[in-house]
Amino acid sequence: MSDTATGSDIAPVTDWLHDWDWLDDQWGSNAIDIWNSVREQCPVASTERYGRAFMPVTMEGVSQVAKDTEHFSSIWVSVSRPDAPRSPAPPITSDPPDHKPHRRLLLPSFNPKRINAIEDTMRDYCRSLIAKLEGMESADAAEQYAQHIPVFGICHLTGLPETDADLFRDWIYRNFQLAPRDNAVRAEVMGEMGEYIGAILNDRRENPQDDMLSMIANAEFDGVPVDWDLKVGYVRLLIVAGIDTTWSAIGSGLWHFAQNNDEVARLVAVENDHMLWQTGTEEVLRYYAPVTMARKVIKDTVVAGCPVHEGDQMLVTFPAANHDPESFENAEEFQLDRAKNRHVAFGLGVHRCVGSNLARLELLVGLQEWLRAFPNYALDPTQQTTWANGQVRGPRKIPVLLNR
Ligand code: HEM
Repeated sequence: MSDTATGSDIAPVTDWLHDWDWLDDQWGSNAIDIWNSVREQCPVASTERYGRAFMPVTMEGVSQVAKDTEHFSSIWVSVSRPDAPRSPAPPITSDPPDHKPHRRLLLPSFNPKRINAIEDTMRDYCRSLIAKLEGMESADAAEQYAQHIPVFGICHLTGLPETDADLFRDWIYRNFQLAPRDNAVRAEVMGEMGEYIGAILNDRRENPQDDMLSMIANAEFDGVPVDWDLKVGYVRLLIVAGIDTTWSAIGSGLWHFAQNNDEVARLVAVENDHMLWQTGTEEVLRYYAPVTMARKVIKDTVVAGCPVHEGDQMLVTFPAANHDPESFENAEEFQLDRAKNRHVAFGLGVHRCVGSNLARLELLVGLQEWLRAFPNYALDPTQQTTWANGQVRGPRKIPVLLNR
């Protein structure tokens, strides 16, 4: 493996069973077909592209890895070069028992009461984005709409400045799309984020406000201040976990409904609090789950018949588990009114998503406002949708005709 194996010097994948690569160009737009094809042959695929790493594609295999903290550690949450620099971003990078206090610190800010309280503000914000499209016949539903909603949500909740949105998106792009193959990029992003977050937390320590950043800047466990590195890590996690995740889910929903106007008609015919909106958004989360995590094997064990050894890397392919026909009836069908839907888009076990209430609100409100404004919109046949691959998969450009 060369020191900076990036871009064009990487051979495209031709054998997904023995040589998978989550940064391969085919992953973004074709991942569901890839996982389904692998599952038909074997429950666990392997690769040597990042050192030895495995990819379970069944609900059983994915659940085993996500729930077993004795054999699998969250110290590595991205399949990257094995010598990649890693920095703490608790609670996602911590294992029990250290994990619990970090999670407890963040959880209250995302409880349903706090999140429901921002629904009207979120709705007004989505309407303001739609108002900017006044008079236009076409738009990019990702660039002009989906990508902005989670930045607004996370900034509103934490106190991070929304004016730095481009900076956050640039870090996210480099962190997820480039860094797994390139240690230098990871080190640069870590350095830039550390400097930025350090400055903002220092400011909040001196000038506390009524926001999450001030809570983190002054956080203590049993009267002892939390280590500075960990405080920086919390904010790093909120930025990388709270933005392109929901941006991808909203974007995937918009991409899907652009091709299914009959489903849009069913949705806009009912009130916003109708059950169909709940089942429909949960189905978007199941079908287009954006987030794939990873673990480091810390003790030899067996996953779905496949031996894995200390030091190996594991993908925790939650989106693939969501397409396992053993767990979902007609898993390959998108069903707007799917009644039984125990999807794992938000993960399983101790690390289950802290931000799921916020993500669900942003997805629901984002889709409701767009579909009601443009019930006949469609993909622009003259242009291409582009997809982000890797850890957070979702459309990044969705050219559409608004067809008012
Ligand atoms: C549709 C959007 C989202 C999806 C699909 C998603 C998915 C996930 C998944 C799969 C995990 C489990 C990680 C693991 O097992 O290693 C996770 C954890 C986490 N998510 Fe989300 N997420 C979303 C939005 C958000 C948002 C908006 C936030 C807010 C900042 C957030 C914050 C977190 C945090 C802090 C954790 C770590 C929890 C822990 O380690 O205890 N997520 N998320």
